[in-house]
Amino acid sequence: MVGPHGRSAVATQHDLLVWVHGDRHDLNFDAALATRRVLSDVACLVEETAGFVYRDCRDLTGFVDGTENPPAEEARELVILPEGAPGAGGSYVLVQRWVHDLDAFHALPTAEQERVIGRTKPDSVELDDLPPDSHVGRVVVEDEAGEEIEIYRRSVPYGTAAEAGLLFLAFTDDLDKFELILSRMFGTSGDGFHDRLTELSAAVSGGYYFAPAQEALDGWLS
Ligand code: HEM
Repeated sequence: MVGPHGRSAVATQHDLLVWVHGDRHDLNFDAALATRRVLSDVACLVEETAGFVYRDCRDLTGFVDGTENPPAEEARELVILPEGAPGAGGSYVLVQRWVHDLDAFHALPTAEQERVIGRTKPDSVELDDLPPDSHVGRVVVEDEAGEEIEIYRRSVPYGTAAEAGLLFLAFTDDLDKFELILSRMFGTSGDGFHDRLTELSAAVSGGYYFAPAQEALDGWLS
């Protein structure tokens, strides 16, 4: 997806996504290494990102990430394909690696940073006068029935002092929801706005995957 200002959500689709999640970086490493070895006859590893929790669940910009995320139990109802649907019990996944221009972001006065995100920095309160080109102003969108479109985000900061950003990872029951939000972020939705965050962070990789239900995975593996 390429926006009118040249900002793009690049597609770097691969065959398989393995998401290792846990509080222990050492154990995550062991699991990732074991997974690479077990798949080595059929797949090669082309991209790997190790994330971490930054302060009190903040993105590296310093803003809390996840405030409006649905709680995990509620998220199951929202993003898992229902009984009877193809792939029932599974969920679609979007993964994008964003590289932040942290020097540019942090050079903005805090009030301006807040206008980019659409929330206050210390305590993540939505701005009363939400700018239409703020991140929150672009990603909060309703469907044709007037219901707010919900996705479930599990993004993590990653990187070093040289290059850092956000590994965006989110789940949905309908890929069109991702497409709609991305079109609003990248300025292709036709209302003349784009997300100012895309001026300060670049999506350098991205792909869609399908996370099957646990039972389906167990069935294939046995
Ligand atoms: C550079 C990449 C991104 C950063 C740093 C970022 C950061 C944030 C922050 C700080 C918030 C406000 C707190 C919260 O409710 O979580 C937020 C909200 C949100 N973001 Fe992002 N985000 C990024 C990319 C994306 C992308 C690619 C999507 C969707 C495809 C997305 C979807 C959302 C949604 C749905 C919300 C909740 C808005 C609400 O209900 O108020 N974000 N993000």
